[in-house]
Amino acid sequence: MRILVSGGAGYIGSHTTLQLIAAGHDAVIADDFSRSKRSVIPRLEALAARPIEVRVVDLTDRAATDALLESAGFDAVIHFAGLKAVGESVSKPLDYYRVNLGSTLSLLAAMARQGVPSIVFSSSATVYGEHAPVPMEEDFPTSATNPYGWTKVMQEQVLRDAAVADPSLRVALLRYFNPVGAHRSGTIGEDPSGIPNNLMPLLAQVAVGRRDKLLIYGDDYPTPDGTGRRDYLHVEDLAAGHVAALDRIAGSATQVSTWNLGTGTPTSVKEMVDAFSRACGHELSVEVAPRRSGDIAESYADPSRAEAELGWRATRTIDEMCADTWRWQSNNPDGYPV
Ligand code: WQD
Repeated sequence: MRILVSGGAGYIGSHTTLQLIAAGHDAVIADDFSRSKRSVIPRLEALAARPIEVRVVDLTDRAATDALLESAGFDAVIHFAGLKAVGESVSKPLDYYRVNLGSTLSLLAAMARQGVPSIVFSSSATVYGEHAPVPMEEDFPTSATNPYGWTKVMQEQVLRDAAVADPSLRVALLRYFNPVGAHRSGTIGEDPSGIPNNLMPLLAQVAVGRRDKLLIYGDDYPTPDGTGRRDYLHVEDLAAGHVAALDRIAGSATQVSTWNLGTGTPTSVKEMVDAFSRACGHELSVEVAPRRSGDIAESYADPSRAEAELGWRATRTIDEMCADTWRWQSNNPDGYPV
């Protein structure tokens, strides 16, 4: 199929674009490069061993989005583009609502006009809010504690309502747990702009010497070692989940499907520090700090629906996630060049 990958120059989008191509799809990247680097593209083309079409588009621009879909005869859209930093969303809520909701509204309007039937949406376990029991199940109620999380809750609702209004629309809501890792080549990976928020890029920056220590946000949680537990999954497993979801919803009798993409196994911060030390071959400097506001003790998936309905399961281990991250970071200490 001919697939539009919005945000395809980003971390998860780039890995998914590669797997779409490997699966025989024709993937076109739409990105405004506001949070990604153009230097990703030649690296993707080298890994794909073929040119990859890129369209520079602001997806909040309705006319530009219309023109993009009108020009290229897409069979489906995978929608990654959006702002994703929890902390930044608290200080810049209007940007988050404008970009995240605006891009989804633009895409859906253009898809309806051009008759594009399927969309796979990049959602997040953050929609389970801060009081969900673990393991988290897709039928749990959704809520949020920050504007970023609310944009994900709202985009899911927009997609469900759009499907009610348009019987031809097929929607996959993919709720990511904690994506980490990198392509085994070490040439593409996660390259957060500015100071990373997430644990794995911070560990990588400490290991490569860009940062002198990792602050462990709280060791007094009700968990076996007192530190927060999360469901880390390899970005290559996550990308494979998108390819499976795309194939599953095409022509499906079910209009809207929601799938957790996680391993179902929690790992603590201290366990991640130890795993990364094994991967990089040296100890990492850590210091226990107060809890980060908004953090929950535990988050991990019940992945059984994706296993049953998509035939998908995360296979890569924590040590593989750390080894692949380390290969990317040690080969690219400062991330992608511009
Ligand atoms: C993981 C664990 C921290 C940094 C966030 C978003 C979520 C999703 C994934 C987009 C926690 C601890 C972290 C540090 C630490 N993003 N930690 N020191 O918070 O589970 O999820 O990213 O969809 O929406 O909320 O991920 O990597 O920030 O934290 O101790 O310097 O590492 O307390 O236990 P999180 P994270």
